[in-house]
Amino acid sequence: MSAQKTITIVGATGTQGASVARTFLELPNWQVRCLTRHPTSEKAIELEKRGAELVQGDLEDEASLQRAFDNVHAVFLNTDFWIPFRKAMALGKDAVTSSQEAYEIEVMHGKNAAKVAASIPTLERFIYSALGPMKKASNGKYPSSYHWETKASIVDYIEGHQLELARKTSYVYIGAYITNAFLYPKFDPESESYVSILPTGKETRFPIINVPRSTGPFVRALVVDEEPRTRLLAYDDYLSVGEVGAIWTRTLGKEVKLIQLTMEAMSAKTGVPVEILMGAAYLGEYSYCAGVSNVIEPIHLKTPIETQTFETWLKEQDAMELLELNNYSTQAEIGRGPQAQPQVTWTVTALTLLDPTTPKWHNAWPQLIRDVPRIVEAARVEITGPTHNDKIITPVLADINHGTYLNGVPGNSSEPLAIQGQKGTFKFVKTARKPYDVVVTCILLRAYNLAPGIFSLRLSDDWIKGKELTSVSGPRK
Ligand SMILES: NC(=O)c1ccc[n+]([C@@H]2O[C@H](COP(=O)([O-])OP(=O)(O)OC[C@H]3O[C@@H](n4cnc5c(N)ncnc54)[C@H](OP(=O)(O)O)[C@@H]3O)[C@@H](O)[C@H]2O)c1
Repeated sequence: MSAQKTITIVGATGTQGASVARTFLELPNWQVRCLTRHPTSEKAIELEKRGAELVQGDLEDEASLQRAFDNVHAVFLNTDFWIPFRKAMALGKDAVTSSQEAYEIEVMHGKNAAKVAASIPTLERFIYSALGPMKKASNGKYPSSYHWETKASIVDYIEGHQLELARKTSYVYIGAYITNAFLYPKFDPESESYVSILPTGKETRFPIINVPRSTGPFVRALVVDEEPRTRLLAYDDYLSVGEVGAIWTRTLGKEVKLIQLTMEAMSAKTGVPVEILMGAAYLGEYSYCAGVSNVIEPIHLKTPIETQTFETWLKEQDAMELLELNNYSTQAEIGRGPQAQPQVTWTVTALTLLDPTTPKWHNAWPQLIRDVPRIVEAARVEITGPTHNDKIITPVLADINHGTYLNGVPGNSSEPLAIQGQKGTFKFVKTARKPYDVVVTCILLRAYNLAPGIFSLRLSDDWIKGKELTSVSGPRK
């Protein structure tokens, strides 16, 4: 490859993409261009400050991809499943429908990026962050882990329909995130002990990757050192469930018990969707990259990458904080996938409607509906109502029959807050310390005060505004 090159990163404000951006920003002969839907977001501005060029765009919009890929030498593409999945869930759709809709959207995103990349004459490397074909590799036994199947479909599209692009393409198969909740035991208040409940046995092995630290160096290797058409399983450590349990036993100084349940039993017990549990059950029978041919591992790279063990990483963390972030209700409610987010510990606000049929909730509901518009008005923060597109501002929904729905506007939003009151549809919201989140927190606290005891509400320690609100409006937990 010649002297000065440009790489475009799709998903650069995300966990994987930010790591790739940081790595390439430090390489003297590379310029970094980042596609983002929100160039004024904190993460985008941070990338710009470090020297990246921002291009506003969306994987739904091919013209914006054309601008972002124009004259580049490399593209790193990460597609996301969970944003459309959460949007569908927040609109009250069930988990299966939400998965199917998110599948269609993510595949469309991947195909759009591949089509546009194929038309760029300067392109030398296209790197896609893929996952294996779980359904095909298991002969249909594990058919509905849609967040895997999306990535396998995008690989099939590139290999089957974009042959020129395929010749320039390599795939990085990112292992389980080091923050993946499957790796974290939970405290069981009944037995007062730590347990790891999984739909798989103690011999099952997970490749584990410290995504912020290691994704960039692995992608750099694929772009700079390795030949195109490389398929790399990227990980820092490769451990069995039993080994992870032993590490936690050493870390906590207390035995962590391993409990194996079927996917269905575990889903019923914890509320975690089968969509998410299927991956772990699958790994009990098949390897992480089953169905992918000629996969290499980190040890095979021409230039070795410095990796870090899970245990070494854990010693540098606040283990109790990680465990607190990883309770099952959070995973289940958020519908986000089993990922802890230790970097955003100050942001969590959660609401679970524990028993919507109680008279207490029935009585509280009309008052809450009356209070929502008052809180929105008093906050003077820009808020939008139910919409598939958060750029379109619609009125906040606060209706006794249809419930409430609101979100911030781009740059000032996080999870939508959707409560379907009298039907009692279970909802969750996680905040991100944006002005919008003050509105969300006020509504949650108001609901908590109107119907004490039927919500679980969590506010993390170091959000000052949240603390102030909590001290006047409700209990700490
Ligand atoms: N958890 C695990 O163990 C694991 C393992 C392997 C793979 N994965 C996969 O990793 C993916 C998530 O990656 P991540 O953690 O890096 O994501 P993330 O931190 O949630 O970030 C999502 C990124 O996608 C961008 N994005 C979302 N929608 C977009 C659109 N329509 N157009 C353009 N950009 C868009 C966002 O950019 P802007 O907001 O700036 O536009 C953001 O940079 C998921 O698909 C998951 O299945 C997870």
